[in-house]
Amino acid sequence: MAPADQFDPRHYVGVRRPLAEAETLPAWCYTSAAFHTREIERAFLKRWLFVACADEVPNAGDTLALETVGGPIALVRGRDGVVRAFANACRHRGARLVEGRGTCRAIVCPYHAWTYDLEGRLIGAPRMERTAGFDRADHGLVPIRLATWQGFVFVTFDARIGRLEDQLGDLTTKLGIYDFDGMVCTRRTSHEVPCNWKVLIENAMEAYHTGTVHGASLRQQEAEDEPTEGGWDAIWIARDQSIAVLPDEAAPFDHVPGLAGRAARGTFFTAIHPNTQFACTQDCMWWLNVWPRGAEACRLEVGTCFPRATVARPDFAANVARYYHRWDTGVADDNAIGATQQVGLRFAARPPGRYSWTESAVHRVNLWLLDQVLDPA
Ligand code: FES
Ligand SMILES: [Fe+2]
Repeated sequence: MAPADQFDPRHYVGVRRPLAEAETLPAWCYTSAAFHTREIERAFLKRWLFVACADEVPNAGDTLALETVGGPIALVRGRDGVVRAFANACRHRGARLVEGRGTCRAIVCPYHAWTYDLEGRLIGAPRMERTAGFDRADHGLVPIRLATWQGFVFVTFDARIGRLEDQLGDLTTKLGIYDFDGMVCTRRTSHEVPCNWKVLIENAMEAYHTGTVHGASLRQQEAEDEPTEGGWDAIWIARDQSIAVLPDEAAPFDHVPGLAGRAARGTFFTAIHPNTQFACTQDCMWWLNVWPRGAEACRLEVGTCFPRATVARPDFAANVARYYHRWDTGVADDNAIGATQQVGLRFAARPPGRYSWTESAVHRVNLWLLDQVLDPA
């Protein structure tokens, strides 16, 4: 059980010490409903949140339904080529409008057939002619604020926060060299995982576990800190070739042209606060989105993107199977240990743990969260 004063900064003094002296987050941060609610309000709903790649809705009329912490939304590419986000909820009595992926000329509600055009205007509403003062112009789909950076779509449920680029900080220059705009999102997978969302985010920010959890597949990796500025964090793993295939295999695809420095010599694993990770390696990138589903469950979405020239290769389909195998293996390993960790976190009287020197980025993402969730001391 969390203490009644679970947001009192005095409970977190140990977490805030320098890494070598610091304690891990109290167990209730991973089980408490009140802590979870506070996270959603302060760490999620006041930020830009990554949701998809723009090329997941490549053509006019393409739709993609997404579940977010702000509610169900639909991405829709309009006739004008612009990708928009709407609440995936009918303006009549609220039915969900689109499911999964689809393509349409207009969005027709499955309940009473109210019909919206691709820009969200209500264009048809049968038997509403006797309803006093009913004007279709007042009942278009609810628009959600959307911004894209290099083809990545972010939304926010806050009307007042600033530009996406301001939140991303120096990510736009450090990772901009990968030319994500020139990549294609080739696959998206979804995984329900019985653990708190932070369990998966923390796991992906340390290589400490790789020799044990991935000992039979990815094997031990060594990560270094990558300095960042703005709303993200990063670690770097040195390896001459892409880390997106298993270690015994040669990576078959060409590198992204123009990579220099650490990008040319290894892989960045990043945490884009609060719930997104971009992993950028020499020949591709993959993203992870962790959506909380209550305090003790989450849904992990994993997308994989390759340069357009790679996807056009005649050997792409045959070779990409090795990448998918590597990702599916790594994700299954991590999800399994995450579920195990969550069981242990339910022992409420367990005193806080300590961090290894290899967990500096885990410590930083924990501190970032406390900065959002706690009241100033
Ligand atoms: S709820 Fe959509 S038309 Fe009635
Ligand atoms: Fe892992």
